[in-house]
Amino acid sequence: MSELLSLNTSDSGYIRDPYAALTALRDQGPLSRVIVDGLPVWLITGYDEAVEVLSDPRMSNDGRRHAGPEARAVAWTGIATGDVAAHMLRTDPPDHTRLRRLVSKAFTPRRVTALEPRIRTIATDLLAALPTGDEPADLFAAYASPLPILVIGELFGVRTDDLGQFRYWTDVYLGVTEQEGRLQVEASRQLATLINDLFAQRRKELGDRTLDVEGEGTLIDGLIKARDDDDRLDENELITMAFLLLAAGYETTVNLIANGLLILLSEPARLARLIADPRQLTDVIEEFLRFESPVKASTPRYATQDIRVGDTLIPAGDAVLVHFSAANRDPARFADSDAYDPQRNAEYAGRTHLAFGYGLHYCLGASLARLEARVAFEELLAAHPDMGLALSTDQIEWRRSRAMRGVQALPVRLRRA
Ligand code: HEM
Repeated sequence: MSELLSLNTSDSGYIRDPYAALTALRDQGPLSRVIVDGLPVWLITGYDEAVEVLSDPRMSNDGRRHAGPEARAVAWTGIATGDVAAHMLRTDPPDHTRLRRLVSKAFTPRRVTALEPRIRTIATDLLAALPTGDEPADLFAAYASPLPILVIGELFGVRTDDLGQFRYWTDVYLGVTEQEGRLQVEASRQLATLINDLFAQRRKELGDRTLDVEGEGTLIDGLIKARDDDDRLDENELITMAFLLLAAGYETTVNLIANGLLILLSEPARLARLIADPRQLTDVIEEFLRFESPVKASTPRYATQDIRVGDTLIPAGDAVLVHFSAANRDPARFADSDAYDPQRNAEYAGRTHLAFGYGLHYCLGASLARLEARVAFEELLAAHPDMGLALSTDQIEWRRSRAMRGVQALPVRLRRA
């Protein structure tokens, strides 16, 4: 048997530049058998194959039911621990259909649009708190990172007094602060208490009142009251859903804002072009998502039966990872795919990136993430049009993470030297 390729996702070269290794893999074919952090998987690097796998109903997200022994034995798949944070992402129809339908009743476009003024206030408050001297400001720690968690706090209706705790324990829980595992267990307990209290308090206040679940009150209010005929989310499902929204909606959006800012500042002409024509911002954000996808790879899928993709047979039980960063740079789909070019979004009508996934599990919060990024950039560029990176691009440190692509800090001079 030929030796399998290995991908150690905490390797410093891969963390700094995952694209070199991914391009080498894709050059050999759109799917490869690779050992990723100890688990043999089918790694999908081609765009068309990614879409094919993500739309195939024979591919399951439910590892507890469909994973083979190799995936069960590896801790990072979360099968053995029954990870609370990934509930809906780890279910298949009909369970997934039911959960998604109920949460979609409350997580509506109307509720997202209504958040815009609050997001703008959050952004301007954060900008007002930036240091005023000539020292560089870390726009990761002071802007990109707090904004999305404050927005989620707003969406959930977390009391202002509790926001500090909410953010601290979320950071520990998600490993943003790279804490010990023991503290993470404590963090999940603390967050569960905060979220439980929030649900209990809202339930008491809402009582038997009827509510327009699509927009009235907070998202938590909407989730409590969401019904589908006689069906509703039970206590456990509500908590799990809140955890999932936190885990899926926080760091991802942080990375979109911070990675986008790095892209803009790494070539000053990009910033100048956008400031000269702010109408480009929508296309620019789509290109940030394609070019430095905040989520590198999908949650694992498992073949429920032998499945043929192209010339390859994926045996039942095998794990499959769709690599969004690789598919989004597939030259068969995007011409000059390693170049940053916001114009392509007008030219490639219909040929969208996969940064929000594809198919049944397509990101529930995509419109909220786009709104947060738009407002964050509108306010930042208006306040600091002269800003520039305080380090060279190759001095920027990237966060060690299997699934996420994001920087650790972003020192920026707010005024031209
Ligand atoms: C730039 C920011 C974001 C990115 C890049 C992103 C990316 C993704 C991706 C790639 C998936 C699919 C994963 C897979 O199929 O394995 C996903 C699913 C999901 N996302 Fe996002 N996301 C972002 C922001 C958000 C926000 C703000 C929320 C909500 C507050 C959110 C909630 C969810 C949920 C609930 C799912 C699971 C959907 C399902 O299983 O049906 N995401 N996201």
